[in-house]
Formats: sequence, structure tokens, C-alpha cells
Amino acid sequence: MNLIFMGPPGAGKGTQARRIAEKYGIPQLSTGDMLRAAVKAGTPVGLQAKAAMESGGLVTDAIVVGIIGDRIGEADCANGFILDGFPRTVGQAEALDTMLTERGLKIDQVIDITAADEALVSRITGRRTCGKCGEGYHIEHKAPAVENVCDKCGGALVTRADDTEETVRNRLTVYHAQTAPVLNFYRGKGEIKVVDGMQDMNVVFDALCAIIG
Ligand code: AP5
Ligand code: MG
Ligand code: ZN
Repeated sequence: MNLIFMGPPGAGKGTQARRIAEKYGIPQLSTGDMLRAAVKAGTPVGLQAKAAMESGGLVTDAIVVGIIGDRIGEADCANGFILDGFPRTVGQAEALDTMLTERGLKIDQVIDITAADEALVSRITGRRTCGKCGEGYHIEHKAPAVENVCDKCGGALVTRADDTEETVRNRLTVYHAQTAPVLNFYRGKGEIKVVDGMQDMNVVFDALCAIIG
């Protein structure tokens, strides 16, 4: 089962992809998470990506297509994968098509998780992530039992460097200009499923499970 989760920053792609990955036993491939790890490790990719990520702009297609091309060839992707945050431009979507065709693979579902722009700023500025295990939290919608401590592993919660109000607004502008056209690309090829990401997290999860089957 090869899935693409689309949606604006803060729609809940990462939150849901982690849960779906656990339930279906297929990995979550988040280009954002991979790039953040590269920035942290100071790799050549990280050094190239850092400035674009900090401003809320996009990293080049060549970098992210390279990362995903390597990743989907790994053993844990043999039974499928969830793309979270990729493709984000029509160029990336075309490159993905080529990569999949070469490997005899296809995308089974493209799911657009929608949310209103007004809600996204508070979702993102309230987000906290476990620095140790990656579990996601929100100071209002999914607060940990003990402030700033991960319920799952006891790790300290951190705020992402690009989760400032100013950067979020820029990410939203970039989303509408460059990523929304990717939805048209997939609409032109067949069906896109839409899930209302403004609903309760568990309702969104159930809707996704109903689509995936
Ligand atoms: P990336 O990491 O992909 O960030 P993003 O797309 O901006 O998306 P987010 O991770 O912010 O949102 P999400 O939908 O995952 O929301 P979440 O589930 O956490 O990319 C970061 C940067 O990397 C980009 O700006 C770019 O520079 C670069 N990059 C990455 N991929 C790239 C690519 N393909 N090409 C070029 N550049 C790329 O939820 C958000 C918060 O809301 C959480 O606190 C959560 O608890 C809460 N929440 C979730 N669902 C609900 C709900 N239903 N109700 C209430 N609260 C909720
Ligand atoms: Mg995410
Ligand atoms: Zn943790």
C-alpha cells in the first residue's frame, strides 16, 4: 500500500502518518523530518537545506527527489510507505511518477487532509515534538500529562525552528502557490480522497483507515 498524504502545514499529515504507519506496519517517509535530521547532523544536504527551511521556503526538487529515491528503495518500504510532505511541487510529482514506474510501483491513494488557514497558525505555534522519539504534541489539543515531557518515552519536548508565526505564514503562501497545484496534477490522473482535517484527531484517523481499508 503506497500512500501520499497531502495538505497544508499543520493539517495533521505527520500526526496521522505516524498512527497509520503503526497500524499498517508501513513506514512514514517525511521529507521534513529527514531534512531536519540532515540539518542537525550538518550533512552536505543539511547545509544546503537549512536556509530555505528556516525561511519557510522550499528546498530544491533535486535534493528531495534524491532523498526519496534512496529511501523508497530500502527494505522496510517493500510492503508500502506513506509519503508525508512529498511531493510538494509538480516537478516532484513528475519525478516521483518516473521513479515509481521504473520500479514497477504505483501510488494506491492520494489523500488530501484539508484545514482552514486561520486554524493552522495556532496549530503550528502550539506544536511540540519529542526530541527523543519524535512523538507530536500540541499545547491545547494534545497536551502531555507533564508539561514539556513526552508521555511515551520521558524525553524533553522541543519547538521546531520553523514554527514561528512569521514562518508559518510564509509556508502557507508557498503551499498555495507551489503545492496546491500538485492536487490538480493528481486530480487529472484519477481520484483524490479528501479528509476534513478540522475534525477531532481520532475522527480524522478513522476516516483515513476507512479509505485505506
Ligand atoms: P514539513 O516538516 O513537511 O512541514 P509542513 O508541511 O509545513 O507540515 P507540518 O509538519 O508543519 O504539518 P503537519 O501536517 O505534519 O502537521 P502535524 O501533524 O505536525 O516541512 C518543513 C520544511 O522542510 C518545509 O517548509 C521545506 O522548507 C522543507 N521541505 C519538506 N519537504 C519538502 C519537499 N518535498 N520539497 C521541498 N522542501 C521541503 O500537526 C500540527 C499540530 O496540530 C500538532 O501540534 C498536532 O498535535 C496538531 N493537530 C494535528 N491534527 C489535529 C486535529 N485534528 N485537531 C487539533 N490539533 C491537531
Ligand atoms: Mg509534519
Ligand atoms: Zn518521546
